[in-house]
Amino acid sequence: MLTMDWQPCRGNALPLYRQIYLYIQNKIETGQWPSGTRLLPQRQLAGQLKVNRSTLAIALDELTADGYIKSRRGSGMTVSSPAWAKLASASRSWNQRLTADAYLSNQPMIQKINTLEFAPDMIRLGTGEIAPELLPQTELQQLIAETAPKIHNFGYQEPQGLPALRQQISRHLKTRGIDAAPGSILIVSGALQALQLICFGLLAPKDAMFIERPSYLLSLQLFRSLQLRFSTLPMEADGLSLTSLAEQHKRHRHALLYTVPTFHNPTGALMPLNKRQALLHFCQENQLPIVEDDVYRDLWLDQEPPPPLKAMDANGLVLYVNSLSKTIGPGLRIGWVVGPEPIIQRLADLKMQHDYGSSILSQWVAAEWLRQGLEEAHLTRLRQELRQRRLLVGQCLENHFSQLADWRLPSGGFYIWLKLRTPVSLPQLFKAACQKHVLLNPGTIYDQQSSQYLRLSYAYAKPEELCRGLKILAGLLERRP
Ligand SMILES: Cc1ncc(COP(=O)(O)O)c(C=O)c1O
Repeated sequence: MLTMDWQPCRGNALPLYRQIYLYIQNKIETGQWPSGTRLLPQRQLAGQLKVNRSTLAIALDELTADGYIKSRRGSGMTVSSPAWAKLASASRSWNQRLTADAYLSNQPMIQKINTLEFAPDMIRLGTGEIAPELLPQTELQQLIAETAPKIHNFGYQEPQGLPALRQQISRHLKTRGIDAAPGSILIVSGALQALQLICFGLLAPKDAMFIERPSYLLSLQLFRSLQLRFSTLPMEADGLSLTSLAEQHKRHRHALLYTVPTFHNPTGALMPLNKRQALLHFCQENQLPIVEDDVYRDLWLDQEPPPPLKAMDANGLVLYVNSLSKTIGPGLRIGWVVGPEPIIQRLADLKMQHDYGSSILSQWVAAEWLRQGLEEAHLTRLRQELRQRRLLVGQCLENHFSQLADWRLPSGGFYIWLKLRTPVSLPQLFKAACQKHVLLNPGTIYDQQSSQYLRLSYAYAKPEELCRGLKILAGLLERRP
């Protein structure tokens, strides 16, 4: 049982309960108070700290909410070992991971795609962004003109990002079922940066991570550069395989699970409510932290998707990632992470080391966008346009691919995971398509084993181009032996 040889200072600007919180948090994070250590009963503890019991209770409640301590009837309070608290332990060497030669280059296929996307007359059949003409260009231009004169401080901002934007995101999240105070939100430069910060900040080389297969994450070499070990969970029509998760979890201790349960990239799959509940239950039982990437949520086309995992997370197990990229404009580079405050503060510290914060102009524009409530009208228009394109592409596929491939139209997002009936060489198909000015996203980008798949998107190419591009692709496939 721990005794206390420290007392909070009454002259300190921090309230007493906060000093107690930070003191105990530090003891736990630095391993001085290992998991299972028992704390003194509250009355004695308050006596040793020379504070009244209600002050102590606030600190203990917050430590409990953040997963640092737990209380059991009969055995009092003990130091907990929640997965996030362990991951946050400050024993990482940042510098080890900042050496330039530690980074791998992009996959050659992605390098080609990144260049060819800007070639003239190229029909982009698989691009992962909304076409410029579907973005709210006029509203954004107007917002920038109105907002710029109101920005009086172009200096560096608070580590977690512009308070006005965090306030708006907090309000916005409420409409999506997530209760998050501005203090538990970090503004990032797009969801991708959130994923980078999480992997840099909370994982060590050789840490294992569960991801879906196929996965957006597999298209990024950056995560391989960190020497993370991925264990892949096959995607089913309704999201990742829970059976596979349970089986693999028995064999390995994994640091976390990364998942896109809502309109998954690249398969378009949507996880239903009961499976979300089962997944969350499994992760809670096994103290497996989750990174939920929700960037496609607002692009539902048939009906609103089930709530995010984060909305059902009572234990701070889920780190929630989202951005404005897939709805308003990826060029703004505005995203956010929501999670337990100690984790958010660690990620904010790391972001300060990376870039001192996201563009203040973008942050103000995003804050105004949300404050003025421009989003819903834009989303209604965008969904309508995407529905029409989905219908059109569905018809083109029926017309030209019924003998060549299988597919399922998604209920949201903008990807179709096309399975070719006959195996082909994807590099050769990619090259032949490029020669005909059609740019493809081969399945192998998202999973080496997906060599019979292409990721299609109906969000970028113009409707007429989509039909022309698909017809060209069908012609190429028909000519293959
Ligand atoms: C699942 C997923 N997460 C994150 C991102 C990156 O988004 P952002 O532009 O916000 O960095 C993408 C982009 O394609 C994505 O598909």
